Amino acid sequence: MALDQFLTTLDGLLEDAHSSLERVGTAEALEEFRVKYTGAKSGALKSVQKMLGSIDVKDKPAAGKRFNQVRDRIEELIAQAALRLGGESAPKSSGPLLDPTLPGLRPRIGTVHPITQTLEHLKEIMGRLGFNVTEGPEIEDQWHNFVALNIPEDHPARDPLDNFYLATAKSLSPPSTGSGEAPAERLLRSQTSTVQIRVMEKEALPLRIISLGRVYRPDAPDATHFPMFHQMEGLWVDRNVTMAQLKSVLRLFATSYLGGDVNIRFRPSFFPFTEPSVEVDYWWNGQWIEFGGAGMVDPNVFQAVGIDPEAWSGFAFGLGVERLCMRRFGITDIRDLYRSDVRFLRQFAT
Ligand code: DAH
Repeated sequence: MALDQFLTTLDGLLEDAHSSLERVGTAEALEEFRVKYTGAKSGALKSVQKMLGSIDVKDKPAAGKRFNQVRDRIEELIAQAALRLGGESAPKSSGPLLDPTLPGLRPRIGTVHPITQTLEHLKEIMGRLGFNVTEGPEIEDQWHNFVALNIPEDHPARDPLDNFYLATAKSLSPPSTGSGEAPAERLLRSQTSTVQIRVMEKEALPLRIISLGRVYRPDAPDATHFPMFHQMEGLWVDRNVTMAQLKSVLRLFATSYLGGDVNIRFRPSFFPFTEPSVEVDYWWNGQWIEFGGAGMVDPNVFQAVGIDPEAWSGFAFGLGVERLCMRRFGITDIRDLYRSDVRFLRQFAT
């Protein structure tokens, strides 16, 4: 076929399309028109396109170019007519709503919270040191949070102003006179040391566990305090556990977590459930930073759970997870962790 002839056919087609589109007054008619001109099987455009095959090779570029122009023009006319006839009934094929040629973008999905990342990381490091992960409830009784941990009734740590005691039916009714029975009050646990008791009550010795989780204290929020935070508790009970082992474990842990050769310092302290007790400091970035408490399990604690303190020994430690996480990630305000501001949290995406 000669180029001239081909172009004339195309022009005729476009003219026809123009005039018949003017008579199209309903969505149904438009759809008929669309099929007649652009139908994939036997549309008018399709038949003209087939003629391209018989065009002389040297004329093919010009013919193809004109064909594309006419096809685009007809599609445009259909789209305009669809708009004129009203959006709802517009034929779906009047043009793609989505441009498949745009580059693909990864949709924004959530990221793992820095505290969750830290918990996983700590479990992994302590796992390598042979510590198994155990869990305990966040709503605790006085026995596990205080009594078995050798914290007596009059100890300031049990003050209602320093704990989230839960209102129970009993504590809401006026004090009963005469019965003298202590109420079985529950509270949101103030420390993960509760899990030491739960584990020693039911598990066979020797044991080596860690427990990570939330603890609650009614502190006013500021840059270093929040009423809910996380601790990592550790407990090792065996025949001959020593303070030197405690120090090695904490030093190996710190070296793994903080990186480099971290110095560790024990300062004498007091906790009711350990004797002797120490505060644990790490030397990091030019200063001593306190990360928690530790010590040798107090014989009274062993006795409370029915373990013979003459036959068994153990060490325990409790570290602040937020502190570790904040140091590592360079976070300076604990409240930022709990504002649920995804712009902040996204920075720590792995
Ligand atoms: N439970 C203590 C606290 O919340 C931390 C602690 C200190 C845990 C000494 C221990 C320990 O296991 O031995 O402040």
